[in-house]
Amino acid sequence: MEWDAVYRSNKVEELPWYTPGLDRDIAGAIKKLGLKTGRVLDVGSGPGTQAIGMARLGFDVTGLDIASIAVAKARARARSEGVRVKFVVGDVIGTRLRPAQFDLINDRGVFHTIDPERRQAFVHAIRRLLKDDGVYLMKCFSTKTPGDWGPHRFTMGQVRDYFGGDFDIKSMRESVFQGTLKQSPITIFCVMRARKRYKTR
Ligand SMILES: C[S@@+](CC[C@H](N)C(=O)[O-])C[C@H]1O[C@@H](n2cnc3c(N)ncnc32)[C@H](O)[C@@H]1O
Repeated sequence: MEWDAVYRSNKVEELPWYTPGLDRDIAGAIKKLGLKTGRVLDVGSGPGTQAIGMARLGFDVTGLDIASIAVAKARARARSEGVRVKFVVGDVIGTRLRPAQFDLINDRGVFHTIDPERRQAFVHAIRRLLKDDGVYLMKCFSTKTPGDWGPHRFTMGQVRDYFGGDFDIKSMRESVFQGTLKQSPITIFCVMRARKRYKTR
């Protein structure tokens, strides 16, 4: 996928994943976990609405996206809404962001865009950026979404297989991807915690 081309040739408000407010599942999970402060990474921040929504809750938010045009548009949105978010351009796999700095990573629709040969590296990159016990929220398309357009689809078993080594899976359930499509795609929404790592010298 050429992400910059997607953001160059579309209004963000018309993209299928665009939703103006904070995703209900993400807002609900943050509330249930009792999280109120800390450093958050919104990976694949795209239009920036999720990063902005979490900053409004009081978190210190960094948005990271591989598409420089998405980052420019997200920065403009945050500025116009008067919300402080640091947006950076980069591929989360191989990012220079300092490891073990985030209390929470939010992934709304990124893991499911990663091709199979890069998935393990993606999982390790997320783990590396989180503190021990840090929370990872992940929403991806479910195999219950019909068709083969757009992102990859997953079963709950596959999500467990990819993430179970680096993360404790706290909850996993079916949900939907709120966006601009007439029929919201069926998703898996998962709350995980980064397993502790052995400190080596
Ligand atoms: C489906 S969109 C979701 C955007 C946003 N999370 C939201 O919910 O509005 C996926 C986003 O992930 C970004 N992305 C894809 N692969 C990435 C990677 N390896 N590193 C950082 N961002 C990536 C894309 O540019 C795109 O903005």
